Amino acid sequence: MQISPSLLAADWARLADEAARVPDADWLHFDVMDGHFVPNLTAGLSVVESLLAATSIPLDCHLMIADPDRWAPGYAEAGAANVTFHAEAVHAPVRLARTLRSLGARAGLAVNPATPITPYADLLPDLDMVLLMTVEPGFGGQRFLDMVLPKVAEARELVRRSGCDVWVQVDGGVSEDTIGRCAEAGANVFVAGSAVFGADDPDRMVRTLREMATAASPLAASD
Ligand code: DX5
Ligand code: ZN
Repeated sequence: MQISPSLLAADWARLADEAARVPDADWLHFDVMDGHFVPNLTAGLSVVESLLAATSIPLDCHLMIADPDRWAPGYAEAGAANVTFHAEAVHAPVRLARTLRSLGARAGLAVNPATPITPYADLLPDLDMVLLMTVEPGFGGQRFLDMVLPKVAEARELVRRSGCDVWVQVDGGVSEDTIGRCAEAGANVFVAGSAVFGADDPDRMVRTLREMATAASPLAASD
């Protein structure tokens, strides 16, 4: 059970200090938004490079961008430990996933709430993670979409049948109120932005969320 606090909810004038507030995090989730794939704009590779130099927590880059085939490899080259691109934007997912892995990164495939995961089952051997968006991508602090939970279970079942060690991540509206349902459905990596950075003690919230996920997960016994 891994917690990936989303820096989207942190103070962007002090990103390195904010990263230092969650030393128990397994990952730092960095949302790259280009104002095209999603109606919001954040930051890109240069900020990721600076952050990589400022923290030892592995970076989980979530690319909400229109042309991941072109831009995603740069994040792997820079040293991001995980690079996730969107199914709705990518042109050659197998080629991109293999390129990311050859550059030493884990490869993640993200799907929006309305995008099914089943059509991507054959890609699982080339992936390290599937990310199921539990809000429409673009903004933090949105309400968790319960309708995605059956797809989380479906993804876990596809992974089990594939025999591949692919992680199932959820992102959007994950909090003390919703993490149990996600874990129960089969997720094992949890992105949480406002729940972590909106807490008085963000690192304590990371530990609380991990404990809640572990308690609810059918996988935790063997984790
Ligand atoms: C939304 C981003 C999320 C966001 C989650 O498009 O992908 O990572 O930061 O924020 P919360 O946890 O506040 O929903
Ligand atoms: Zn994200």
